[in-house]
Amino acid sequence: MTYINKKIILKSRPTGRPNDSNFTYLEEETAPLEDGQLLIKVDLLGIDAFIRTTLDEGGFHQGAEIGGVIPALGIGQVVQSKAEGFAEGDYVFGPMCSQSYAVMPSFTMRKLDTSVAEPSAFLGALGLTTGMTAYFGIVDVGRVKPGDTVVVSGAAGAVGSMAGQIARLSGASKVIGIAGGPHKTKFLVDELKFDAAIDYKNENVGARLDELAPDGINVFFDNVGGEILDDVLMRIVLGSRIVICGAISQYEKMTEVRGPKNYLKLAERHSSIEGFAVFHFSAHYPRAEAQLADWLRSGDLVMREQIEHGVENFPAMLNMLMTGGHHGKLLLKV
Ligand SMILES: NC(=O)c1ccc[n+]([C@@H]2O[C@H](COP(=O)([O-])OP(=O)(O)OC[C@H]3O[C@@H](n4cnc5c(N)ncnc54)[C@H](OP(=O)(O)O)[C@@H]3O)[C@@H](O)[C@H]2O)c1
Repeated sequence: MTYINKKIILKSRPTGRPNDSNFTYLEEETAPLEDGQLLIKVDLLGIDAFIRTTLDEGGFHQGAEIGGVIPALGIGQVVQSKAEGFAEGDYVFGPMCSQSYAVMPSFTMRKLDTSVAEPSAFLGALGLTTGMTAYFGIVDVGRVKPGDTVVVSGAAGAVGSMAGQIARLSGASKVIGIAGGPHKTKFLVDELKFDAAIDYKNENVGARLDELAPDGINVFFDNVGGEILDDVLMRIVLGSRIVICGAISQYEKMTEVRGPKNYLKLAERHSSIEGFAVFHFSAHYPRAEAQLADWLRSGDLVMREQIEHGVENFPAMLNMLMTGGHHGKLLLKV
């Protein structure tokens, strides 16, 4: 049996902000399965910042091909299986891409144990590019310890909202989030229990950091780069750790990425700056997932999911992510 697959295809590479002319919507029948393959009905796609970087030639992450679907992680249900160990109805996680049905080799898919958490949590709180990224960045790279003052940029997004909460659960005495707009700072303080939040669109970040962290910053979990990184570097203490998780302020002009102007503060204050990709911690995924699932069950960790609808809206959702029109994890119900 075949199904109608609705897909978004990359038509041309965007310069700066993507627009409708860069994408095409197509419908076509699914291909018959070969041995070792699964046909998956995609349920939810995670709209992640890395997707923007795949649209560029020679992208920072694995690139999207012109004429092909766009990389995106998703969860879905197996509707046909020609692979051992997978049966109709199984929930799976993997690189589903911008489409409603995916024919995938089974080795690229992970079967999900939905008794651990709701399926959507495997993209959000327990997700590789969300909860796990935040966990390794705070625990293994930032080595947050009791008493630390921790600052998180991009704090009201998926990774940032997890990172701030994990910092608190790791003993930080003060967690400060930086995000765009008063509704986001309110979300951080009221819903996620950050100690304070700075609205970088309407406030002076440096001046607010001076008020909120007069003794300086021990750990900075950076999702944004650019000026915010420079503002924080001016205020680090001796032995601080700067975690480079990402630099979304640079993703629409990757040929002109600008490094931090104030990097000499690292030498002055015997501090480190360390980048990481979640894949570097693949041997430790079970540890992170077990801890995140415990925190989720106990209610110590909260993940706001914003669910939008329709695979044809994939390009619009990518723009929503880049312009910050969401809170927490942005998901697309296909
Ligand atoms: N190292 C890794 O392995 C890894 C894995 C996954 C993700 N990441 C990184 O984590 C970061 C967050 O990704 P995500 O998928 O969770 O996205 P997200 O945080 O849910 O969404 C992106 C957010 O970035 C903010 N933003 C956009 N342009 C900005 C600018 N010029 N200045 C300041 N803030 C800006 C927007 O929030 P505002 O409304 O606050 O502006 C938006 O909500 C990205 O840098 C991504 O590359 C890294």
